[in-house]
Amino acid sequence: MSRVSDPAGGNAGAPVLVLGAGSDIARAIAQLLAARGHPLQLAARNPAALDRDAADYATRHGVAVTTHAYDATDLARIEAFLDGLPALPRIVISAVGLMGDQEANAADPARAAEVIATNFTGPALTLEAAARRIAAAGGPGAVIGISSVAGDRGRAKNYVYGAAKAGFTAWLSGLRQKHARGPVLVMTVKPGFVATAMTEGMDLPAALTTTPEALAARIVAALDRGRPVHVDPLWRIVMGVIAHLPERIFMRTRF
Ligand SMILES: NC(=O)c1ccc[n+]([C@@H]2O[C@H](COP(=O)([O-])OP(=O)(O)OC[C@H]3O[C@@H](n4cnc5c(N)ncnc54)[C@H](OP(=O)(O)O)[C@@H]3O)[C@@H](O)[C@H]2O)c1
Repeated sequence: MSRVSDPAGGNAGAPVLVLGAGSDIARAIAQLLAARGHPLQLAARNPAALDRDAADYATRHGVAVTTHAYDATDLARIEAFLDGLPALPRIVISAVGLMGDQEANAADPARAAEVIATNFTGPALTLEAAARRIAAAGGPGAVIGISSVAGDRGRAKNYVYGAAKAGFTAWLSGLRQKHARGPVLVMTVKPGFVATAMTEGMDLPAALTTTPEALAARIVAALDRGRPVHVDPLWRIVMGVIAHLPERIFMRTRF
């Protein structure tokens, strides 16, 4: 398919919708795409909180930026949310996510449902609807879901979040196969540790932790190459080992 984010390919004007636009990873991606001349549609639960970023992208890069109210858990409003955008986005990125406290998530049905809707059902249904609309318009376009390596194997420390991400990863895989003949690229991003608000206060190993800016650059490069799945190369090895550990050995580990 043609490159959807390539100014040289004549696609600099393709509108980009960023879901969870206040996320540290999303902000780094938005900065890169605005620098290429893409108009931005920024969506978050509290759009007023996006005003400062919106003004920064607009003045720094001279692109049109709009902000929109979006709650990923409000599944019934997804189509209305897309209807309310100023133009059909050609690139849609979901950086929506919620980790929460594992024990509380596993004990409280309301919290479990919120984690699943935030990390899985909401972003999956939104990207599904966006891909359908882009395809109906003839493309080209891309929908990008930020999932997580946490979905590769359930671990005691975060299996509610991990299970939701596993569901999101599987949904994106199916959506990608559905659109395999184009014109919509369905991309899955599975980061390892990233130093953001979500991981603040956690004792993360420096060698396995990246920055939002470095991850954003890799995501945009993968988009340019039309790569459907992006996993940090080091994390591909780490999770390859963890995912294939025999069950009796895995049960004795504590990571
Ligand atoms: N940081 C990591 O180590 C890491 C690793 C693997 C994957 N990821 C994934 O990367 C993505 C970005 O996360 P991040 O690290 O940049 O963390 P972050 O800064 O905490 O971003 C998470 C974003 O999700 C938004 N959000 C939460 N609930 C929402 C809802 N119901 N509706 C709409 N938006 C909602 C938050 O918006 P509010 O401002 O409204 O709270 C926030 O902007 C997430 O999908 C996360 O799971 C992160």
